[in-house]
Amino acid sequence: MIKVFYGTESGNSEMAADDIVELIEDAGGAAEVIPMEDADVSELSGEKLIIVVTSTYGDGELPETTQPFYDALKSDRPDLSKVSFAAFGLGDSTYETYGNGIDTVSALLKELGASQTGETGRHDAAKTLPLTDVVSTWAQSTLPIFQD
Ligand SMILES: Cc1cc2nc3c(=O)[nH]c(=O)nc-3n(C[C@H](O)[C@H](O)[C@H](O)COP(=O)(O)O)c2cc1C
Repeated sequence: MIKVFYGTESGNSEMAADDIVELIEDAGGAAEVIPMEDADVSELSGEKLIIVVTSTYGDGELPETTQPFYDALKSDRPDLSKVSFAAFGLGDSTYETYGNGIDTVSALLKELGASQTGETGRHDAAKTLPLTDVVSTWAQSTLPIFQD
């Protein structure tokens, strides 16, 4: 069961996470969506692969529901050395701090020992590409289930 954690302010990241779960299920895998604010970070050490999805708010800051996940990781510091993660970020390139949110979360996961699989996916709200299409292209080029 691949856990897809999302943090959001206005729901776009949740839609992206839902799309990722659907794509994995369509490919014959099993996945579930978990809001970051409901995540138990002490259980992450036992995961093989997790997917993190977050937007950026404020001036390059984490959205409200990503912050508690980040804070819990920062204080509990689980050993993630056996964990791989894939990362997808939502932002708006008219901000100087484009996509900071996912980069902040990814940096902490790496600091805790996790290794990233593939490139960070990015949806830019300033461009007209539909979120679903960007998520789909990223997932198919990044997630191990599509490489088999
Ligand atoms: C008040 C506000 C501040 C934002 N600040 C940033 C930012 O600093 N950097 C960025 O890349 N995007 C920024 N965005 C764009 C959002 O990340 C983007 O709209 C994203 O799709 C929102 O996803 P969400 O609904 O999951 O929160 C901002 C949006 C708003 C409304």
